[in-house]
Amino acid sequence: MTKQKILVTGGTGFIGSHTVVALFEAGYDVTITDNLSNSFIEVLDGIEKISGCKPEFYNLDLTNKDAVNSFFDTNSNFDGVIHFAAYKAVGESVDLPLKYYGNNLGSMVNLLENMGQKKIKNLVFSSSCTVYGEPDSLPVTENSPVKKAESPYGTTKIMGETILEDAVKANIVNAISLRYFNPIGAHPSALIGEIPIGVPNNLIPVVTQTAIGKRKKITVYGDDYPTPDGSCIRDYIHVTDLAKAHVIALKRMISGTQKKDYEVFNIGTGTGYSVIEVLNTFEKVSGLKLNYEIGERRKGDVIKIFADTSFANQELGWKAEENLETMVGSAWAWEQNIPKLFPGLS
Ligand code: WQD
Repeated sequence: MTKQKILVTGGTGFIGSHTVVALFEAGYDVTITDNLSNSFIEVLDGIEKISGCKPEFYNLDLTNKDAVNSFFDTNSNFDGVIHFAAYKAVGESVDLPLKYYGNNLGSMVNLLENMGQKKIKNLVFSSSCTVYGEPDSLPVTENSPVKKAESPYGTTKIMGETILEDAVKANIVNAISLRYFNPIGAHPSALIGEIPIGVPNNLIPVVTQTAIGKRKKITVYGDDYPTPDGSCIRDYIHVTDLAKAHVIALKRMISGTQKKDYEVFNIGTGTGYSVIEVLNTFEKVSGLKLNYEIGERRKGDVIKIFADTSFANQELGWKAEENLETMVGSAWAWEQNIPKLFPGLS
């Protein structure tokens, strides 16, 4: 029996690469498009070493309409698409909003136009808990109000979901948006993981780069918030748990078991941890003492957010399995492996 074929845009990225591995393990064939603006082609080697399968790869900028149209003219027999390709640096998006709107939304429109023309029906979209802003009540459910985003990055996720919903109403595609909480960690093989280019924004790469000596110290952005230890609380989720959710969402659409043509799911663990709890957990797991100081609050930071995951648990039969110790432990193992895999980076 021929394998079902899945297109993964942004498939050499952090979450994309882990999802490609999960797709191979679930018996799919995978084609990746990526413009390598925020990832490395060598990630394909890691994917192949882990899964024994080599994805087809096309270096493609989804904002280039002609290039996208000609890609789909010769590659259109996909059973589904998982769309990761987007810029995702919150801080950068504040300084360069048009870069984010042009790229993240332009890519989405070009992709949807081609899926419509080629009758490719099933799309999983990489959305984010950022759409909830500062929630009025916790945990957040999929019906919690979507609020004005704190950054253009977050706005592109809200607008991306709106574009998708309208495309579903126009019978262009069926779709599932997965609202990620904070993806962290790395594959247990330490052959793929997060590779921040330049100075990382997210907490975990800052922690592991400080632990390995690439950075001098960690600044905790505020410990005067209304939380038990004063630092912000997030719902951290292992990237391998997140990857599995994408495969399940895809299967739901391909098998025609969606209850609505457009569905949204929170993909988190349902547990919130503070920044200082994450640092303490890392020290416990690594046996290292982290050099950190308390600094000023970071503009746009949400104080506290974690997910109500009951809808995904019930409807998708999916539940996060990995705990915080495993998450930070796998991130640390990956950081120590980067110099071997990417000697030019260290
Ligand atoms: C987490 C906590 C910081 C760095 C963003 C996006 C989200 C998703 C994940 C892409 C916060 C604190 C951080 C540091 C710190 N994006 N922190 N010192 O902002 O929750 O979410 O990244 O996938 O959509 O919004 O993640 O890791 O930047 O911050 O104290 O050096 O760590 O203040 O409380 P965030 P983050």
